Amino acid sequence: MSMSGTGVHTRNDDPAAPFVPTHVDGEGAARPTLQIIIGATRPGRVGAEVAHWVHRIAAGHGGFDVDLVDLAEIDLPLLDEPVGAKMGRYEHAHSRRWSERVQRADAFVFVMPEYNHGYSAALKNAVDYLFHEWSDKPAGMVSYGSNVGAGARAAESFGAVLVAVKALVLHESVNIPFVHRHLDAGAFRSTDAFDAAAVAMLDELSRVQIASHALRATRYGGSRPRQEPVPAHAGPTSSTGGTDR
Ligand SMILES: Cc1cc2nc3c(=O)[nH]c(=O)nc-3n(C[C@H](O)[C@H](O)[C@H](O)COP(=O)(O)O)c2cc1C
Repeated sequence: MSMSGTGVHTRNDDPAAPFVPTHVDGEGAARPTLQIIIGATRPGRVGAEVAHWVHRIAAGHGGFDVDLVDLAEIDLPLLDEPVGAKMGRYEHAHSRRWSERVQRADAFVFVMPEYNHGYSAALKNAVDYLFHEWSDKPAGMVSYGSNVGAGARAAESFGAVLVAVKALVLHESVNIPFVHRHLDAGAFRSTDAFDAAAVAMLDELSRVQIASHALRATRYGGSRPRQEPVPAHAGPTSSTGGTDR
């Protein structure tokens, strides 16, 4: 295995083998890396401003090195990998780049708009590209919307997506109603309540991140994920509970 970057994650040597992120706790990493993922990609989005506020709070929190991840810049096409992400055999360079970026994270905050009572398509697409890269890492959510719902419906439903990739979804979250009322010359102006909610979420991210090292060591301790053989009678849409992605 060769160490890369901070030495926190490694890649298996066998090029034919599924790509399995391997986490080596504590090596070279001064502080855990928190990725703040901007889930809105449209021109004129409020999401970038909300994310910049989260970034400021997280940088001041001191518990993490903070990496702002803009899905508009990442610019993934709609999922175009022939093999499901659980196998880790990425055909396209954009998928490998995305995998390598997300591997570096120890925790996530997803900043998401509510669109038609759901999360953004860009966010779902970005999650679907990968699997193990999200697993056993804590994830908090900052949702916002233009009405009283505060994007909570998007956050609730996105939580189920995160559970499917084995992320550790936090109870603590930030939900911002009437987001446009909190804009001042285009910049997001927070309130004491939003700041307090964000700090509580970051505290919990920090706590769960520490505890998650044990989980990540058992999942990624050099062993590959179990790949059950697909029964001969199984059609292309059949699932054996883990081989279809
Ligand atoms: C397609 C679409 C659907 C929307 N649906 C909702 C909604 O269900 N609930 C809500 O509170 N706001 C809704 N809004 C308003 C958005 O939350 C608001 O425009 C917000 O600024 C979107 O985030 P963005 O600017 O980062 O893209 C919707 C906006 C769009 C563009």
